[in-house]
Amino acid sequence: MTTPTDHDARGRGHGSRPLLNRRLAEFGTTIFAEMSALALSTGSINLGQGFPDTDGPEEVREAAVRALRDGLGNQYPPGQGVPELRTAIALHQQRRYGLSHDPDTEVLVTAGATEAIAASLLALVEPGDEVVALEPYYDSYAACIAMAGGTRVPVTLRPHGGRYVLDLDELRAAVTPRTRLILLNTPHNPTGTVLTREELTEIAALAVERDLLVVTDEVYEHLVFEGEHIPLASFPGMRDRTVTISSAGKTFSFTGWKVGWITASPALVTAVRSAKQYLTYVSAGPFQYAVAEALRLPDAYFTTLRDDLRDKRDLLSAGLADAGFEVYRPAGTYFVTTDIRPLGGSDGVAFCRALPERCGVVAIPNAVFYDHRDQGSPFVRFAFCKRTEVLQEAVARLKGLAAA
Ligand SMILES: Cc1ncc(COP(=O)(O)O)c(C=O)c1O
Repeated sequence: MTTPTDHDARGRGHGSRPLLNRRLAEFGTTIFAEMSALALSTGSINLGQGFPDTDGPEEVREAAVRALRDGLGNQYPPGQGVPELRTAIALHQQRRYGLSHDPDTEVLVTAGATEAIAASLLALVEPGDEVVALEPYYDSYAACIAMAGGTRVPVTLRPHGGRYVLDLDELRAAVTPRTRLILLNTPHNPTGTVLTREELTEIAALAVERDLLVVTDEVYEHLVFEGEHIPLASFPGMRDRTVTISSAGKTFSFTGWKVGWITASPALVTAVRSAKQYLTYVSAGPFQYAVAEALRLPDAYFTTLRDDLRDKRDLLSAGLADAGFEVYRPAGTYFVTTDIRPLGGSDGVAFCRALPERCGVVAIPNAVFYDHRDQGSPFVRFAFCKRTEVLQEAVARLKGLAAA
């Protein structure tokens, strides 16, 4: 999403035509670039971008080194992903959710979830198709819908009773004869909402009734602190109309490796693969072998990751509340959304631009994740996937806000 001052990619080309094509004209540099630069120039703690400040398990890193040394994946791996990883993904879906997938025809490895999202939308959306997406949304959704020539139709999650809630009637009303697919995200970034079994049941029923495809981004599937993550593909009638997306980045704390995947029916995998092969073709060869090993880690790994992040959520949430924010404690993900109004003011963008100078912390204004910017204006997101001492220091710095 663009910040209001982004004009850098819109310089003039030949004659008076802008360089950037009109589908992408509204997307300049992301807010993350601006805020990360601000973090550097002010020496602030960066709780803006969602990446851990500690690498994932040593044995997984070692597995990548071993793969590199053993010459595994140093040349183009198979277009669909190395068999070891596809098998591990299928086993993971079976072990965690009881979903069976044929590793040869129902799994596709991608360059992170980002490519999975792009390839799915490019493959499945025709110009003029409508794509219903939950708002606020992860920033690549809008750009990918635009690249596919689709029209995004946001359905706004609203704070209610301490969590962000999906209005199922609004979702239903958003579906028109032009709707091609619903683009879902649970656990949801940036609000931390985890859709419940009841909500997912209704979404599935709607998709079946209106014969819609669903692309569901479940990259935070292992970061659920309350409730449970239930894959949409497990609901009646969804198996053959759902593209499920996940990624190693969040689950194993190796966001730079960019190993993602989809699981879906053979027909959907074939369609998405048709787009994917002309984006990257393949990527991350040796890392694919390492992620295959990571997916086989014992349950204790996943539980410890979750419990550790729950403690961090509680630490940062309590600190933000002490500092005067209204806090929406997330049920999942590693982000906490806050309302800045109790601190005075309701312009989250201005607040985030000023925050590094005021107290040496960087956050992200939720408004950039909305089409209806006014709906997101007073909300600000903080990431808590950082070392405990970093979060403690951030909390100490934020305390000054209440006094200021
Ligand atoms: C909801 C969501 N989807 C996808 C991604 C991108 O995942 P990857 O790094 O695997 O491309 C992110 C990363 O922040 C995310 O929050």
